[in-house]
Amino acid sequence: MLSKVLLGLACCTWLQQIVACPVCPQSNESNPSASTLQPPYFLIYGDKFVSGQSGPPPASQLQGYNVYALSFLLTSGAADKAMEWQQLSDSQRTTIKQEYAAAGIKLIVALFGSTDTPTSSGSDPVATAQKMAAWVKKYNVDGVDVDYEDFNAFNAGDGKAEAWVANFTRALRAELPAGTYILTHAPVAPWFSPNKFGGGGYLKIDSTVGNMIDWYNIQFYNQGVNEYTTCDGLLNNSTSTWPGSALLQIGNSGVPLSKLVVGKPGTTADANNGYMPTSTLASCLQKAKEQTGWNAGAMVWQYPNAGSQWIKEVRSLAFP
Ligand SMILES: *[C@@H]1O[C@H](CO)[C@@H](O)[C@H](O)[C@H]1NC(C)=O
Ligand SMILES: *[C@@H]1O[C@H](CO)[C@@H](O)[C@H](O)[C@H]1NC(C)=O
Ligand SMILES: *[C@@H]1O[C@H](CO)[C@@H](O)[C@H](O)[C@H]1NC(C)=O
Ligand SMILES: *[C@@H]1O[C@H](CO)[C@@H](O)[C@H](O)[C@H]1NC(C)=O
Repeated sequence: MLSKVLLGLACCTWLQQIVACPVCPQSNESNPSASTLQPPYFLIYGDKFVSGQSGPPPASQLQGYNVYALSFLLTSGAADKAMEWQQLSDSQRTTIKQEYAAAGIKLIVALFGSTDTPTSSGSDPVATAQKMAAWVKKYNVDGVDVDYEDFNAFNAGDGKAEAWVANFTRALRAELPAGTYILTHAPVAPWFSPNKFGGGGYLKIDSTVGNMIDWYNIQFYNQGVNEYTTCDGLLNNSTSTWPGSALLQIGNSGVPLSKLVVGKPGTTADANNGYMPTSTLASCLQKAKEQTGWNAGAMVWQYPNAGSQWIKEVRSLAFP
């Protein structure tokens, strides 16, 4: 998938309920009810240029979602939808934030994406986190999604990627406190495979800083043509290439099921592979819920290829 400027989140080159706000807390007006967002989470990324839309789409086009992620804020600064948001006026941003809050939708910014390789490039995790957190506050968004995709650093197996992500997350959380700001991560599913990464992969990251991460928007796509394409492969048993990385297997490795959000491409054009028709995905989510009580939700890459209709269909069985 090629976006206006960037290869998006979805496009790795390796192998390449609405939570209504019935009683909104008055005390956290600048981030209305950020602290009250509970699963299920329904998150959509916006990176693609949409003619006539500067910044995020009208909230009316995001019915059924409760988080929209402006993509991306890079180490070099804002790009694509994040740049459009930055270029709006304060009053335009305030109006949109109010519209989103009234619709029960959080507006966050996605960091890095597949074009940014902060560990390999030698960026300092603490300074990078402080700079990005300052952007979050200056441009008034509800939090961040860490789309770290530095595959070379991870594959090196020396633990530097995991340490970088952990240090970055700590520094980010120090600036963006829990209960006020959303802080999620968007790892690819294989990064949860036990014993595949010398540095311990995302299981190591979860064991060190998982308590600072609200939930994981897991990319169950772009990982091979046979990966995560059936309910069994998505939920129970991933292939021998990436063992132990199906949803419930990640849960069995110790990551709370309530934090494991299933991420999928909106259409076949939004990823190299890993697409599931909405009816299949809906039935898988229903199975996961019935089997274990899982209720974390779904993530999709990307608006406008997915919109209200996509999430309505995906939610139809487990989260009508
Ligand atoms: C992470 O922080 C620790 C403690 O400050 C430091 O020793 C380590 O070098 C840092 N690692 C990276 C990759 O930044
Ligand atoms: C408001 O945010 C603070 C963190 O800054 C948090 O401790 C507090 O619980 C929040 N209040 C409400 C009513 O959500
Ligand atoms: C997953 O495993 C459970 C328990 O073994 C089984 O009941 C269920 O049918 C499996 N789901 C799929 C989609 O194969
Ligand atoms: C899980 O998948 C592996 C690899 O494809 C296979 O060898 C194994 O039999 C499967 N386990 C179950 C319980 O289906």
